Amino acid sequence: MVKRALITGISGQDGAYLAKFLLEKQYKVYGAVRRTSAASLHRLDELKIKDQVHLIDFDLMEHGNIIEIIRSLHPHEIYNLAAQSFVSASFTQPIYTAEVDGLAVTRMLEAVRLFAPEARFYQASTSEMFGKVQSIPQNEETPFYPRSPYGVAKLYAHWIVKNYRESFGLFTCSGLLFNHESPLRGREFVTRKITLGLANIRAGLQKTIALGNLDAKRDWGFAGDYIEGMWLMLQKPHGDDFVLATNTAFSVRDFVDCAGKSLDFDIQWHGEGVEERGIDRKSGNTIVTVSKDLFRPAEVDLLIGDFKKAKQDLGWEPKTSFPRLVSMMTGADYDRVTSDRVFF
Ligand code: NAP
Ligand code: GDD
Repeated sequence: MVKRALITGISGQDGAYLAKFLLEKQYKVYGAVRRTSAASLHRLDELKIKDQVHLIDFDLMEHGNIIEIIRSLHPHEIYNLAAQSFVSASFTQPIYTAEVDGLAVTRMLEAVRLFAPEARFYQASTSEMFGKVQSIPQNEETPFYPRSPYGVAKLYAHWIVKNYRESFGLFTCSGLLFNHESPLRGREFVTRKITLGLANIRAGLQKTIALGNLDAKRDWGFAGDYIEGMWLMLQKPHGDDFVLATNTAFSVRDFVDCAGKSLDFDIQWHGEGVEERGIDRKSGNTIVTVSKDLFRPAEVDLLIGDFKKAKQDLGWEPKTSFPRLVSMMTGADYDRVTSDRVFF
């Protein structure tokens, strides 16, 4: 039997990698895409799968649209990856973020309950829900303390997913995923901003990168490893929640150092706070500055995940090391900026 999978957010980083993974497993993949004035399918193009997925118009703000799609497709598996995923933007668009990242998940679940109750449902939960962390490292039992409207909205979604599992017996899973990156990461996230910025500087196309909090620490893994974990969750006999992480943490400054090395910069740090500068020892040029405008109203200082449960129950563990991830991203960006191709 050919399985049907519905992926919301297929145009995003995880959606694109997951679509490729499911196509390789012979799934029929339906990708939900919202209408925008400019096509945003460049990641599917880059992975060379745009022609293999069935794209359908979809917006998480439209209840009727959600019901109609789930009723007519009757998918075996639903991966709800669509979201306003940029934490920083959630401080200026808290209501929209609450709608799309929080309430819309209830809309999805209602449609599943009414029209496809046997479907298996994956929700993209997040380490951002741990926020001001209550213990180190964080696992499935760690209490939540979100620090952004994004984290608060995702926490609502996380609990409603659990609630529909317990109340109505739906097969629902939440993946508590720590930061995962790739060459397909959006440019607004710090890792890609750094790799693209440094690649541009190396190619002589840009002079400096302005960053915010250099001390924030994240547990950074490779998106390509994490999407397999999402799929494994839906293959278990019962829905459950799992942390996917690497159990290592690096600061934003560490990320800059590592990306710099792979592009042959030797960055020395001088000054403190907003006066801090990253200077390339070889050229003497300042290549990183700090801008107070890029700090957040409330910060998540440290995330580090414990993936023991995923390893035990799913046989999942991360395969890509931090240095490998960083060099994969800088390499891809350097190739892009030094080629004639249009890229995103
Ligand atoms: P992403 O690249 O920002 O992709 C987000 C996707 O959601 C895009 O396809 C976007 O469509 C779509 N979307 C946004 N608003 C929508 C709406 N109103 N209706 C329909 N689609 C909408 O995010 P990602 O990194 O792949 O992350 C996937 C999911 O995992 C997100 O829910 C994110 O919050 C969560 N998550 C990510 C990480 C991480 O480190 N990457 C960690 C934990 C959890 P457009 O292309 O039209 O913008
Ligand atoms: N974006 C950005 N831009 N972040 C910066 C910058 C900058 O110029 N300078 C420092 N940072 C710091 C942020 O303050 C934050 O502490 C850290 O870098 C990571 O920021 P992002 O890359 O924007 O990611 P995030 O951790 O806030 O959110 C990502 O991971 C979550 C999982 O923990 C997103 O993918 C979320 O959707 C995801 O849920």
